[in-house]
Amino acid sequence: MRPLTFSILSFLFFSGLLYAQALDPELEKKASELLHKMTIQEKIGQLSQVNGEYSNISSGMRAKVQKGEIGSILNEVDTKTLNELQRIAVEESRLGIPLIFARDVIHGFKTIFPIPLGQAASWNPDLVEKGARIAAMEASSVGLHWTFAPMIDISRDPRWGRIAESLGEDPYLTSQLGVAMVRGFQGESLADKGTIAACAKHFVGYGAAEGGRDYNIANIPENELYNNYFPPFKACVDAGVATFMPTFNELNGVPASGNAFLFRTVLREDWKFDGFVVSDWESVRQLVVHGVASDNKEAARQGISAGIDMEMASTTYSSHLLKLVEEGTVPESIIDEAVRNILRIKFQLGLFDNPYTNTSDFPPLVAEAHLAAAEEAAVQSCVLLKNERQVLPLQEKAIRKLAVIGPLADDPYEQLGTWIFDGNPGHSITPLSALRSTLKDIAEVHFVKALETSRSYSQSGFPEAAEAAKDADAIVLFLGEESILSGEAHCRADLGLPGAQLELIQAMAQTGKPVITVVMAGRPLALGQALEFSDALLFAWHPGTMGGPAIARLLLGKDAPSGKLPVTFPTSAGQIPMYYNHKNTGKPATEASFIHIDDIPVRAPQTSVGNTSYYLDAGYHPLFPFGYGLSYTRFEYTGLKAANPIVGRGDILQISVQLSNTGDYEAVEVAQLYIRDLVSSITRPVKELKSFQRVRLRPGESRTVTFSLPVEQLAYYYPGRGWEVEPGEFDIWVGGNSEAALKTTVEIR
Ligand code: NOJ
Repeated sequence: MRPLTFSILSFLFFSGLLYAQALDPELEKKASELLHKMTIQEKIGQLSQVNGEYSNISSGMRAKVQKGEIGSILNEVDTKTLNELQRIAVEESRLGIPLIFARDVIHGFKTIFPIPLGQAASWNPDLVEKGARIAAMEASSVGLHWTFAPMIDISRDPRWGRIAESLGEDPYLTSQLGVAMVRGFQGESLADKGTIAACAKHFVGYGAAEGGRDYNIANIPENELYNNYFPPFKACVDAGVATFMPTFNELNGVPASGNAFLFRTVLREDWKFDGFVVSDWESVRQLVVHGVASDNKEAARQGISAGIDMEMASTTYSSHLLKLVEEGTVPESIIDEAVRNILRIKFQLGLFDNPYTNTSDFPPLVAEAHLAAAEEAAVQSCVLLKNERQVLPLQEKAIRKLAVIGPLADDPYEQLGTWIFDGNPGHSITPLSALRSTLKDIAEVHFVKALETSRSYSQSGFPEAAEAAKDADAIVLFLGEESILSGEAHCRADLGLPGAQLELIQAMAQTGKPVITVVMAGRPLALGQALEFSDALLFAWHPGTMGGPAIARLLLGKDAPSGKLPVTFPTSAGQIPMYYNHKNTGKPATEASFIHIDDIPVRAPQTSVGNTSYYLDAGYHPLFPFGYGLSYTRFEYTGLKAANPIVGRGDILQISVQLSNTGDYEAVEVAQLYIRDLVSSITRPVKELKSFQRVRLRPGESRTVTFSLPVEQLAYYYPGRGWEVEPGEFDIWVGGNSEAALKTTVEIR
């Protein structure tokens, strides 16, 4: 079919021209004037980011800052040291250019919020924005200006440890939440107090590392790149993100830190990004290790030529750029452009006017309001995956004795999750302590750890756990993964519960008491057997500082769970990749065609007739689909309809559905809208999330939920042609997860 090409307005929207922020002429003038005064050495200095020295300033560091040989410092968080470094830069360097101080503030600074994947389960951009706002406030209060977040790598592989830092597998959800984080960190203006520059990372394809092994290669064809991996990054550019970071790995044979297609063609030329790009840790030097540069000098040439403005940690720029410019291998104009990009953000941050930090200008760290926000975030992040016979919520009146069992019930550190450089477990409230204080005058709480850590195999603690469970009204097990089992370079081939945790659930199930399992983990886990032996299962991710009170609120029914999975849960690692927005194939699996390995007759003849796409031993259904999550109440969707089922380009589809709370609890439902382009020039996914709304309903309450969907949102990227909406029919589903059944069809003419 002939594609509908976009109206000029929609073209501008998708190409970024409409939203690309106009450069501030006054600020540009200041940057140009400053650039004009700089020596080539001072320019190269701006391109260099070095690691801090842990509350120390060596004479070497002092001299470098004095000479303008450093543009940025990362990982220094001591305010006195930061102010002194800044004073040296501002008062003792020739041009007084301030330093920009960076840190990984990933899910909170001191007040730790749930891991990003957990926050994504809230499907709540406002909540995510608030979390980033608080993190920015706390980070700026010590003197930081810049965080390396959000991580918006589409993540379809739970073996990959950094899935914990991601916002899941879906480009639309990741875009919405990534933009929310950027807004939270950067506020209305970078110059405002308490805002910090954000960094969209890792551009691009980090989550597609082969086999889920960190840093490994990614091969992503243009079609996938534009339709799945680029959109969150493009959305963050449109939202004004200040900085970008390349992925460590190679994309289609070219390591990202030397990839001019990504940083020059796509980011600068197509998307009009005007912030700056910082490399990842030593990733420019690693161009040598990848085998695309013969030495560090060549690595520097490739990095700067590709558009990596600032080099983190390695020193190929400071060691070789001068020579490369003198030789004429790198034009000075490229250096000028990189410096200008960096100065622009330093000006926008107001560093020239307010270089120093006075901690007393800010609210205290870990303030009450911050803890309350972290608790709310943890409540909204938890996903209820099973609740047989409505064993949850625990009825306070009926509980006299509660057995709290497991290695993660009372571990203030492990509940914080990965990337918590500045988080302090001393602030954590654990589930055990929250349950004890809430049930103080109501029930006895017996705690037995049973396993030393999540990885322990010794079952010597099991008898004591069984004893505690014997006369309990219910058993609450806290299991999962310690923080260190996910995060950078911490990938797993087996997605089961580590150690003897499964045996512990089995032992508890044998007591005949209701078993409620709470899993804290940094990734989706293959929970099949854990589910079998549990009456209820709440997936809490690593919930952060206030994980304990949040979980207690949910277990005791003070709130109903509302989290929905931002990523598919496979039954086993062997099913990976398993994601909801897959393609149909020419032979899609069906119930009728599926034969389990045990049901194949001996010496059955080999045939290609009637076969479909599945595993003999693992089928084709995930354990839980994307978007899944139960509530204590019941929600019913009825009456899905499109007010205007035949539309043209530039129109806005109006889709409505009746949502009713037919259960007994007030609760929030995340109503999700999915589409499928039925016939298109290239294959399109069987479902794509295009909109969602959080709706709170009291028992018995019904509401019409309306989605306004611009037709442009039905566009996809056709390699070589660009973004198009093809006329024809589209199926539209609305429901509580990606397997929602309620469907209508619209036509684009
Ligand atoms: C390596 C990680 O890949 C990146 O995400 C992080 O921001 C830097 N190190 C700095 O710590």
